[in-house]
Amino acid sequence: MKTIKRIGILTAGGDSPGLNAAIRAVGKTAIRDFGWDVIGFRDGYLGLAENRFVTFDKATLAGILTIGGTVLGTSRDKPHRMMIKGKECDMTDVIAANYRKNKLDALVCIGGGGTHKNALRLIEKGLRVVTLPKTIDNDVPFTDSTIGFDTALGIAAEAIDRLHSTAHSHHRIIIAEVMGHNAGWLALGAGIAGGADAILIPEIPYDVRKVAAAIRLRSERGNNFSIVAVAEGAKSVSDSALFDAALKKKKAAKTKEQKDVAKQELAALESKHVGNTMRLAKELEQLTKLEARVSILGYVQRGGTPSCADRLLATRLGSACAHLLAQGAESVMVAARGDGYTTVPIEKVAGTLKLVPSNHTWIASARGVGTCLGD
Ligand code: F6P
Repeated sequence: MKTIKRIGILTAGGDSPGLNAAIRAVGKTAIRDFGWDVIGFRDGYLGLAENRFVTFDKATLAGILTIGGTVLGTSRDKPHRMMIKGKECDMTDVIAANYRKNKLDALVCIGGGGTHKNALRLIEKGLRVVTLPKTIDNDVPFTDSTIGFDTALGIAAEAIDRLHSTAHSHHRIIIAEVMGHNAGWLALGAGIAGGADAILIPEIPYDVRKVAAAIRLRSERGNNFSIVAVAEGAKSVSDSALFDAALKKKKAAKTKEQKDVAKQELAALESKHVGNTMRLAKELEQLTKLEARVSILGYVQRGGTPSCADRLLATRLGSACAHLLAQGAESVMVAARGDGYTTVPIEKVAGTLKLVPSNHTWIASARGVGTCLGD
């Protein structure tokens, strides 16, 4: 096992609250417990390709615990398809060369699904990489939770709380669109915590008539307003079938041409899906005769001070990450497991999504309190 002297850290993918707490925990533990040099690359994998980095010490790692976003900056750039001077380039070899040029003994990549796929590409080039799971979507598999999810959940739940009084005062339907990409964790969690009357998530295709029936029933019982929490990726039964068919086609594609056609079909469906929440509002207005309004919570969910739970999670996993590296860990994600942590091969994590399973307790609880899930 090679002794570590110097490590690099980067944050990639969408920013999320708690990233700085994670950088601080990895860095401080690395410096204090092991005396390693620590550098941080700017803007995700792009900074590593362009060799832009900062040197961390105890002073530069201080005072960032409670700050949102990432002091390193982030990007969604992929090593094998990076836009350099307006041209798409494969920068994997350049990244590997920069890793060696900087005499790094390990690289810590903090990110979600895309970050794990990219980490695997670097491992295949011989780099020693360890990851930490971060995303407000909570869709990284094999970890109890991801850094940023708890904060975003709190923000979305508070927004739903606030929408209640205006929905009640105006006798309206208010639809809160919640982020989460293709996973329903945020919408489901915030919807339950905020007492939404209907919650629509990608994992359960919805029938708008059923949502309207639930809202009408509430009106008949004297509650002439409703709150609908809808995940940005939620789809009607018919749209969901179209997406499933296109995804199947993409998976089955054997030639590059077939793959390109399937990709185009998916992209067309995705661009048609933009504005789905506005269309849902119109449909619900027509079916219920109530006024409907939409609040798209958007990037507010990703910003600002991390919650205590996220600071704790990031500190726990970040500190564990440095200790695991000292013990020889490589090619693993440091995952949250109960009060502790575990390691999961990055190979297992990359390309897999953690969606809400149909038998999850949150689904049963939502149904238990009478929430319409659109099915
Ligand atoms: O993955 C986090 C997330 O906020 C998703 O919920 C959302 O779909 C996506 O990022 C938005 O991506 P971008 O920041 O590239 O607009």
